[in-house]
Amino acid sequence: HLYMNLVQDKRYLYFLEGLKNTLIITFFALVIGVALGFIIGMVRSTYDRTGKGKIANGICQFYLTIMRGTPAVIQLMIFYYCIFTSRIFSGVFVGIIAFGLNSAAYVAEIIRSGIMSIPKGQMEAGRSLGFSYGETMRYIIMPQAVRNVLPAIFNEFIVLIKETAVAGYVAVQDLTKAGDIVRSRTYDSWTPLLTVALIYLILTMFFSFLEKKMEEAFQRKERG
Ligand code: ARG
Repeated sequence: HLYMNLVQDKRYLYFLEGLKNTLIITFFALVIGVALGFIIGMVRSTYDRTGKGKIANGICQFYLTIMRGTPAVIQLMIFYYCIFTSRIFSGVFVGIIAFGLNSAAYVAEIIRSGIMSIPKGQMEAGRSLGFSYGETMRYIIMPQAVRNVLPAIFNEFIVLIKETAVAGYVAVQDLTKAGDIVRSRTYDSWTPLLTVALIYLILTMFFSFLEKKMEEAFQRKERG
């Protein structure tokens, strides 16, 4: 009868609203994370390979140290309560920014290791064929690096889905918060919390499945 309540009292609407916010924050945070992470990863690997861009590399390294060395939930609260103090900025908006900037630090290292995994000889081969550094990067290194990096980016998406569970700290009604609200109103802890867990599980399993399919498609293509 607990599930009857969920439907009759329209409690499922909390979960729907929560799921919507969780997916919105996750998606846009990943977009920011990949875009900024790509730039940082390029700066870092360019420095590693050529020694160029010492200052830019130093700034990036500082950024990575801060973002990966402090909890994401603290960064989220600093953005919401210290930086974006005007409430014209919704919690969802601030969440996108905070999780996006945090994710960028992790994506940057994924990109960097992806680029570094391409043997140096590939760059030398490109240069000796008359390509510039940028052209070799674009036409020879990146196409190979992207393929190596995609599974890890997919994994970052899955990590972000779960990481946004702390969005409730800044008054966002995400999926986790929805479960908590229903728990506190019904005095039934099992049903809402297991429902939330199950929804997360379905999401992460679904995206893992997509990732696996993508890997298989790559392998088929490589076999020719
Ligand atoms: N939970 C960890 C933290 O609070 C991980 C942060 C996010 N990780 C990630 N790959 N985006 O710092």
